[in-house]
Amino acid sequence: MGVPTLQDLPITRGSRVLVRVDHNVPLDEAGHVSDDTRLVESLPTLRALTARGAVVIVLSHLGRPGGTPHPALSLRPVAARLQQLMEAPVSFVPATVGDEAERAVAAAAPGSVVVLENLRFHRGEAANDPAFAEALARLGQFYVNDAFGTAHRAHASTVGLPARLPRAAGLLVERELRALDDLRRGPPRPYWAIVGGAKVADKLTLLEHLLSQVDGLVIGGGMANTFLAATGHSVGASRIEADQLDAARALVQAGGDRLVLPQDVVAARAFAADAARRVVPVDAVGPDEVVMDVGPKTLERLAQVLAGAATVFWNGPLGVFEWPAFAEGTLATARLLARLPARVVVGGGDSGAAVAQAGLSAQFAHVSTGGGAALAYIQGRELPGVAALGEGGGR
Ligand code: 3PG
Repeated sequence: MGVPTLQDLPITRGSRVLVRVDHNVPLDEAGHVSDDTRLVESLPTLRALTARGAVVIVLSHLGRPGGTPHPALSLRPVAARLQQLMEAPVSFVPATVGDEAERAVAAAAPGSVVVLENLRFHRGEAANDPAFAEALARLGQFYVNDAFGTAHRAHASTVGLPARLPRAAGLLVERELRALDDLRRGPPRPYWAIVGGAKVADKLTLLEHLLSQVDGLVIGGGMANTFLAATGHSVGASRIEADQLDAARALVQAGGDRLVLPQDVVAARAFAADAARRVVPVDAVGPDEVVMDVGPKTLERLAQVLAGAATVFWNGPLGVFEWPAFAEGTLATARLLARLPARVVVGGGDSGAAVAQAGLSAQFAHVSTGGGAALAYIQGRELPGVAALGEGGGR
């Protein structure tokens, strides 16, 4: 992998280890963690370090508070959930750097975990400000990056810190890189990809890259509307991206038979959770209807084309899966992929949430904890947070 790992750090009982994790998890209306996947995935590293008697100092961001404290984005409830998952004592400190944080880590017992407050309450984090990185570095003797989901950000905690302390990749980062490296190198064929999600603009480079790699590409979700419009279908009152129509047309041309678009859809008169659903062929969407999900014929076609696949990469929901009436396309895809003999890799974000919702995460070769990071990595881009762990990294 080319970066040092946990075994490479001479950690002994009482060593203070700063661990950058990605505990950027969804909170429900009561402020409790509603999906703890990213916490669970960080446990092997945290446990490996507490087992060695380290004082484990957990650093994370939560949301995008933009450099100022924001009570609704405090990591306190996340620390509370972590305490339920860890056998070791977990404490929360309402400070990220400075006297209070320094006192807390100095007083922490070997084998315990200290969760510091949201890194992004400080402008220095996203700006990779040297003074902020120094203030973080003062808290520990070693640095471990296990925040795969944040590895595409060049922030103080991902590139500033590893330039200042002996550093290593955590077990989750190791696992993610191994699983996604296969896709970068060219996996066993036939190789298929399924890409959904709201906007073509967000995923255009991903779609272009995948089309240059795969034997077949299925497009669903909100972004499929722009492709359908670009190929002469009416998508009623659905939102389309007028500025992406040419790009969509070019992809359709380049993809030819390898590009699979929805044949039928679930339409509704309003973009609402309780709107009445109607299954229609793509050419029969009414002028006052919006497309909410893919239909059963499209799902049948998906099952046919994927039947012989050796590798599948899936990113992005195929419909408005947050609302049960429009979740079937996405959940049925999760079930279909879970049954396939292919090696299936799910690229984080909403598709990761969908397989978790379907209770199927364990059925896949790999479900990435990274959204943007996983997509950047499989496209061959360097991740600053990983590069910073290597030779001369972080400088
Ligand atoms: C994510 O959820 O993708 C990561 O935590 C990164 O968050 P960000 O996009 O706000 O940097």
